[in-house]
Amino acid sequence: PIKIIIDTDPGQDDAVAILLALASDRLNVLGITAVAGNVPLALTEKNARKICELARKPGTRVYAGAKSPMERPLVTAEYVHGKSGLDGPQLPEPDMPLQPLHGVDFIVETLLAEPAGEVTICALGPLTNLALALQQAPQIAERVRQIVLMGGGFFEGGNVTPAAEFNIYVDPEAAKMVFASGIPIVMMPLDVTHKVLTTRSRLDVIGKLATPVSKAVVELLEFFERYDESKYGIEGGPLHDPTVIAWLLQPDLFSGRYCNVEIETQSPLTEGMTVVDWWQVTDRPHNALVIRDVDADGFFALLTDHLSRL
Ligand code: BDR
Ligand code: CA
Repeated sequence: PIKIIIDTDPGQDDAVAILLALASDRLNVLGITAVAGNVPLALTEKNARKICELARKPGTRVYAGAKSPMERPLVTAEYVHGKSGLDGPQLPEPDMPLQPLHGVDFIVETLLAEPAGEVTICALGPLTNLALALQQAPQIAERVRQIVLMGGGFFEGGNVTPAAEFNIYVDPEAAKMVFASGIPIVMMPLDVTHKVLTTRSRLDVIGKLATPVSKAVVELLEFFERYDESKYGIEGGPLHDPTVIAWLLQPDLFSGRYCNVEIETQSPLTEGMTVVDWWQVTDRPHNALVIRDVDADGFFALLTDHLSRL
């Protein structure tokens, strides 16, 4: 199996990504590191544990990482995810423990302990934990197999400002460090996540599994879609973060190209923007595989099949 660390700020779509990963026997989840993002850290780490228990994998190790971005105050998104970050279903308070180690230390220690080139990082929130790990131990950069991340947007623009997507906007300095790290990056921007929509018929197919997990997923996604449906006038909400896990499981569902991506950190107008050189109009080096297209029905078939295993 592929060894992964999931770095996350659950978040309903983070929750579905975690469930997808835990359902697969082709992924070995070494640990989950929580970061502040959609809601503060005290909620994201608890939400991660709630989801592990929902998946009946209480042995999964969950660590709390950074409480706030590297250089800025935290910006949260309760207007999308609700006050708890996981509004929708009634999930019990978790019994499983939070690991005592700091999430950033877990990332560093794991990368130093595992053979080089074996650990993939799945980044579903602001990139603070990863940047802090790189700052603390720069030698981990050459040991990471790849980072698959949800963040940014180019033809679609942003979802927090006209220019910036939430995960990058919250901690652009961290994103800048990660994109400059030399680690191979696969980027899932809004351009692709806005193509995997939780339409009524897709949710009905998941609901028909009639398991506690499928019921919770439908309730999570019914809550989550409300914001985007009213905002963008589309049917269903974009299922951003699960695209990261789906790419590892079935990369042929996706297509994109290798590009240069730079992060804007200075301009008040465009801070947090991912400047993607899609048309190769500069000779700046390629630092990411930028995904733009997806077989959305294939994606939902993969998701539904995996949820049926939990
Ligand atoms: C990203 O921001 C969060 O609200 C979601 O969980 C996703 O990671 C989408 O912009
Ligand atoms: Ca997220």
